[in-house]
Amino acid sequence: MRTHYCAEIDTPLIGETVTVAGWVASRRDHGGVIFIDLRDKDEPVQLVCDPADSAEAHKVADEVRDQYVLIATGKVRARGEGLENPNLKTGKVEIVVEKLTIENRSKPMPFDLGDDKVNEEIRLKYRYLELRTQRMYDIFKLRSKATIAARNALDKMGFLEVETPVLTKSTPEGARDYLVPSRVHPGEFYALPQSPQLFKQLLMVGGFDRYFQIAKCFRDEDLRADRQPEFTQIDVEMSFCTQDDVIETAEKLIHAIFTECGIEIPASFPRMTYREAMEKYGSDKPDLRFGMEMVDVIDIFERCDNEIFSTIAKAPKKNRIKALKVPNGDNIFSKRQMKGFEEYVRKFGAQGLGYFQMKEEGLKGPLTKFFNEDDLQAIVERCELQIGDVVFFGAGEKKVVLDYMGRFRLYLAELMGIVPDDVYKFVWIVDFPMFEIEEGRIKALHHPFTQPKSLDYADIEEIESIAYDIVLNGTELGGGSIRIHKEEIQEEIFKLLGISEEEAQEKFGFLLDALKFGAPPHGGFAIGLDRLIMLMAKTDSIRDVIAFPKTQRAQCLLTHAPSEVDAEQLKELHLRIRQTPTT
Ligand code: AMO
Repeated sequence: MRTHYCAEIDTPLIGETVTVAGWVASRRDHGGVIFIDLRDKDEPVQLVCDPADSAEAHKVADEVRDQYVLIATGKVRARGEGLENPNLKTGKVEIVVEKLTIENRSKPMPFDLGDDKVNEEIRLKYRYLELRTQRMYDIFKLRSKATIAARNALDKMGFLEVETPVLTKSTPEGARDYLVPSRVHPGEFYALPQSPQLFKQLLMVGGFDRYFQIAKCFRDEDLRADRQPEFTQIDVEMSFCTQDDVIETAEKLIHAIFTECGIEIPASFPRMTYREAMEKYGSDKPDLRFGMEMVDVIDIFERCDNEIFSTIAKAPKKNRIKALKVPNGDNIFSKRQMKGFEEYVRKFGAQGLGYFQMKEEGLKGPLTKFFNEDDLQAIVERCELQIGDVVFFGAGEKKVVLDYMGRFRLYLAELMGIVPDDVYKFVWIVDFPMFEIEEGRIKALHHPFTQPKSLDYADIEEIESIAYDIVLNGTELGGGSIRIHKEEIQEEIFKLLGISEEEAQEKFGFLLDALKFGAPPHGGFAIGLDRLIMLMAKTDSIRDVIAFPKTQRAQCLLTHAPSEVDAEQLKELHLRIRQTPTT
C-alpha cells in the first residue's frame, strides 16, 4: 500500500511522488491549510493538505482526527525557510498531498499517548495504543536488536539453540511454581519452568556441549519493579569448562549485545568476592557508579565507653559496626533530615543510627563523649574524614547491619543525586557461599546443583560454591555456576539441605539417574533479558520492556488474566474451587 515508510521521506526524494500510510499523530489547521503528522512504526512525516493543491484531499483532511488511519499520496518538497524541524528525521521535507484516504477511523484516545506519566492501569488496559508511541517502538527495536545480537554471538561461539519443555516438573529456583492441571491424569499437575536449569544440564549429559535458549521462565513470587511472573532469560550451558571459561563467554556475549546496540562497554568486567561486596556495600549486587564504601570500625568501638557498642563489638564474628562517610554531608543535610535518616534505617531493623560531624575543631556529635582522643583520631583516619564530612554508624547483628547500611548508602546517594545515569558499571560477584541459614533452615544460596568448592568444612556457612553473578549498576543481571556432575556429591548436597532420599528421587530422580551415565563437567549462566533491556533503555520499570506485561498483582489488564473458567472446564480438569470465607 505504501512506497515508503514515513521516516524514509528525506531530501533525496524531493520532487518525487510517494505514498505513505499510518496513524495521525497530530493535526493542525492553519487558516485553511491542514498539516498532519503521519506516523507508522517509526518517526512521523508532515503532510500538507492545501485546497490549492487538491480540494478533495483537503476535504478529507478536514474530517481527519487523532489516530485515524490514513493513506496519503503526494509530492515531496523542501520545507520553507525557518520551518525545518531539526528534532525530526524527516524535518527538512513535507509531502504535498494529492490523494488522501481514510482507511479507518478511531474513537478518541482514552489517554494522552504523548504523556508517559498517565496512570499505568489505563495504559496497560489499552497497551496496544501505548505501543503506538515512539518511546515504546524504540524500546522494542532495542530489544529485538539485542536478542538477535545474542543469538548471533552465541551461534558464532558454537552454541546450539535448543527449546526445552514448558509443561514440565518443578525446578527449584526458590520461587513458587505455576501449576497446570492435567486432564488425562486426574489430580496431577505440570509445573511451568522457573528456568530451564535441569534440562540444560541434561543436554550436557546428552553431549551437545554448548546450548543456549531465549527461554521463557515463570515464577510465582512477590513482584517488584524489576520482576515479572513471566520473564525471559538468555540461558546458556557448556561442558568441560571452568568458571573462567563461563565468565569469558558471558562477557563476549554481553559485549556483543551492547556493541550491536551502539553502546560502548569494556570487553571484560572486574570481579569482587561476595564477602567483599557484602562488607563494603552491604549487598551482593553493589552499585559501583559511586563510592561511599562502608568501613569497618568494630575494633575502635570495642574500646569505647558505651556498653551497647562495646558489647556488640565484643562479638566481631556475629556482629558488625560499619561506618558510612558522606563527603561534605555536614553542609548538605539539615537537622531534620538527619533525624529522618534514623527513621529510614529503623524500617530495616536498625536500633538507631549514630553519627559524627567533622568540624574544624574535630569530631562532634552525640557519640564523641564515649571515645578518648586517640580513638576519635583513629576514626578520622580510618574513614579518611575531611572537614564538612558526616560519618554514620550502624551497629548490631551482621546480617541486619550490612542490609540496612547497604540500603542507606543507596538512599543517600539517590537523595544527593550522585548516581550518574550515563555509565554502565559491571561487576562479577564470585565465591558465593553455598548455603544460607534462614529461620534455622539450611537453604542453597544459588541452587542445589551448584558445585561446592569443597565439602571439607567446620562451619556449613563457610562452604563456598563455584557460583557467580553479573551485576550492572546495582541490579542483578544474571547468574550461574559450575554444576555438580557427580551423583555422590549431588546426593550429599541434598542431604545437607535436609532433602530426604525419597524426596530427591521423587523430585530430581531423572537428574540423579543422568549423573550416573557419564555426565561431563559443566556449567553455565542465565541473563535476565528483560532486566538487560530495562537497563539499556534506562527505564526503571520492567513493564516498559515487555510487550504485554502483568501488573504488580500479576494480572494482565488487557485480557483480564487470570480469570475464572466455566464449571465444565473445571470438571474436565478434575478441579473443584473451594470457596474460602472472606474476612
Ligand atoms: P536466576 O534465578 O539467578 O538463575 O535467574 C537469572 C536471571 O533471571 C532474571 N530474573 C528475573 N527477571 C524478571 N523477573 C523475575 N521474576 C526474575 N527472576 C530472575 C534475573 C536473574 O539474574 N538457572 C539459573 C541460572 C544458571 O545457574 O545458569 C537461574 O535461573 O536477571
